Amino acid sequence: MAASRTDLNDPATDAGTRSAVCPVDHAEFSGDAAHHGYEPFDMNDPFPAYERLRAEEPVMYDERIGLWVVTRWADVRAVFEDWETFSSENAQAPIRERGPEASRIMKEGGFTAYSGLSARIPPDHSRIRAIAQRAFTPRRFKALEPTIRENTRAALEKMLESPDRQGDFLHDIAFDIPTVTILTLLGVDSAMVPMYKRWSDSRGAMTWGDLSDDQQIPHAHNLVEYWQECERLVVQAHRDGGDSLIADLVEAQGAGAEITDHEIASLCYSLLFAGHETTTTLIANSVRVLLGHREAWEAIVADPTRIPSAIDEVLRYSGSIVAWRRKALRDTAIGGVAIPEGAGILLVMGSANRDDEVFAHPDQFDIDRTDARNHLSFGYGIHYCLGNMLAKLQDRIVLEESAAAVPSLRLTGTPIAFGENLSFRAPTSVPVTWEA
Ligand code: HEM
Repeated sequence: MAASRTDLNDPATDAGTRSAVCPVDHAEFSGDAAHHGYEPFDMNDPFPAYERLRAEEPVMYDERIGLWVVTRWADVRAVFEDWETFSSENAQAPIRERGPEASRIMKEGGFTAYSGLSARIPPDHSRIRAIAQRAFTPRRFKALEPTIRENTRAALEKMLESPDRQGDFLHDIAFDIPTVTILTLLGVDSAMVPMYKRWSDSRGAMTWGDLSDDQQIPHAHNLVEYWQECERLVVQAHRDGGDSLIADLVEAQGAGAEITDHEIASLCYSLLFAGHETTTTLIANSVRVLLGHREAWEAIVADPTRIPSAIDEVLRYSGSIVAWRRKALRDTAIGGVAIPEGAGILLVMGSANRDDEVFAHPDQFDIDRTDARNHLSFGYGIHYCLGNMLAKLQDRIVLEESAAAVPSLRLTGTPIAFGENLSFRAPTSVPVTWEA
């Protein structure tokens, strides 16, 4: 089941700038060639630049973002694995420094959120992860399955009512389902979806976006509201109990688990973002890429048991998070390149997943690939994504229901753009149509 295109509807762009302070000798390059065409925030079609980086400079210092960009699979995995040398403490740090007005708004609004897990380091990380993991039970996920299926059917029915048979799979289907799921898991009323989506957009933009001081201001207000809501949820769980992940954490605390209210609120702050944003993208990408490779879509329509391996291949071929940060805690080396203590590192999983040292014909989308699960889209090692099973469960249900309800689904052919971001590669729409 192979196809020879790179990533359907990913329009290529080639803008670039160059600064003089890069420590690597780029004498043989000129203009944006200094970075091998790599544009850190341009997510439209980063794959040709990734390929050049892997071949020409697999560990490259990029002074525009102040990070060492690591693009080969073996190097990316080795850094993820060696948490004693490479800490995740910078994983959630804003890429652009907070402006004075945004800082004032957040300080006065009592914003003290810290990463729930991904930017924490042992021993705090191991302590909190062990407690959180106990609340992430298969029983909880299984219990959600009927609701996810029901929500998917309702969303599909609504989209299919369109008189001109035109829809946007991202907004009509992929947008709300994971948000409702994570809100349900955390015991929050699903009427709050638009609010959480707004807060999450701000979270993504403020941490991984390229915002000016003025652009940061509305997002700063949103983050204050978001954090106050997380604190309120913990107070509510103490008061009312209930059947939710937050109530489980509060109960564990009551039974002696070493976790503070601030840590529980920080976990909410993380989960209410991590728990849907990336899954929305996974669902949107699954439909986009499968429809873009018609034979793969038809294969899952004919045999839905092939959906789980198709999902692994989507995660490899077009992951929701293409780059994630680490910090060197001592002088060290990556792939033979010296890295100084304190250096920030950008692990480009989107590139690692297309490394031909590991995956044969990596630019081909192939749902029969047996090694797709070696992708690094969920990270690797002690921070490996806690929600990976929930993300895949939701994607599987959406694909099963969509393939059954509307096998004639296809892309309209309208080009699909991706939002600007350092880490999150998310399409801004997935226009679809179908037969009567
Ligand atoms: C397609 C969907 C998803 C993708 C691509 C994704 C990706 C990632 C990545 C790259 C990391 C960092 C791993 C590392 O530093 O080694 C991570 C961590 C994490 N993810 Fe996900 N994630 C997804 C869905 C979810 C969902 C649905 C949840 C929660 C319900 C979730 C919760 C977390 C948490 C709590 C962590 C931090 C784990 C730790 O530091 O110990 N993720 N995820």
